[in-house]
Amino acid sequence: MARPKPDNPQQGRLILVASPKGGVGKSCLCRNLLVSAAKDGIRVLGVDLDQQQTLAKWHARRERVRQTFPDCAEVPVMAVPVAEWRSAVKAAEGYDLVVIDTPPNIEAQYGAALSLCSAADFVLVPTGATQDDIDSCAPWMKVLVDAEIRASFVLNKANRRVKSYETIRAKLLQVGSLCPVEVPTLEDIHVSAGKGLAVPDFTNAKAAATFDALWCYVAREAGLKLQVGAAA
Ligand SMILES: Nc1ncnc2c1ncn2[C@@H]1O[C@H](COP(=O)(O)OP(=O)(O)OP(=O)(O)O)[C@@H](O)[C@H]1O
Ligand SMILES: [Mg+2]
Repeated sequence: MARPKPDNPQQGRLILVASPKGGVGKSCLCRNLLVSAAKDGIRVLGVDLDQQQTLAKWHARRERVRQTFPDCAEVPVMAVPVAEWRSAVKAAEGYDLVVIDTPPNIEAQYGAALSLCSAADFVLVPTGATQDDIDSCAPWMKVLVDAEIRASFVLNKANRRVKSYETIRAKLLQVGSLCPVEVPTLEDIHVSAGKGLAVPDFTNAKAAATFDALWCYVAREAGLKLQVGAAA
């Protein structure tokens, strides 16, 4: 698929991936967005606010891979404690784009979380497709909507074929915007991460088109200008 190319990306765009629910794919979506951006020639930085440092550990694996495969796109990542979130915002000034991974239970640090969301150009809120996910993620989205923060849910590990899928979508749409691209459960996604890689590193990966589309959506929502490239 021909991938849209950046057209004079504006400096300092900030995307926050934040959801109160654990294990819904925050770190996974961050690393895929980071690699998509890097492969499109955008100067991108990942920031890991989670003390478990999932994103930073993935970055360390990637750096080891890059020693053998230097063509593998470089994706700098810095780990920062949540309390020091302002340094992440400051870092954005030196990059076209900063993608910030957040810990679960972020709403426990309400003040910092809301200030960070307000500083972001776009907040992506990953959620699973169960009532338990909605119970956690919907109140968080309501906070963002009430604060007039630009944000969308994204359904991760979604299965369109189950009956509950449409019901869950409808419930999410009652609360906030929903990314038109959902991410299915695919082995490619977690296996590549174990090697410091991401789906966009593999043109033939099953989920390549999904992550291309997700990147286009998120980049536009964050105000990065994209132009459609020539057909491949
Ligand atoms: N769509 C998917 N298909 C297959 N595996 C996935 C998918 N999304 C995430 N995973 C895997 O599920 C696990 C949890 O995902 P991830 O670590 O990204 O969630 P998280 O929201 O960052 O978790 P935490 O709240 O603990 O930070 C990881 O092993 C990840 O690779
Ligand atoms: Mg995580």
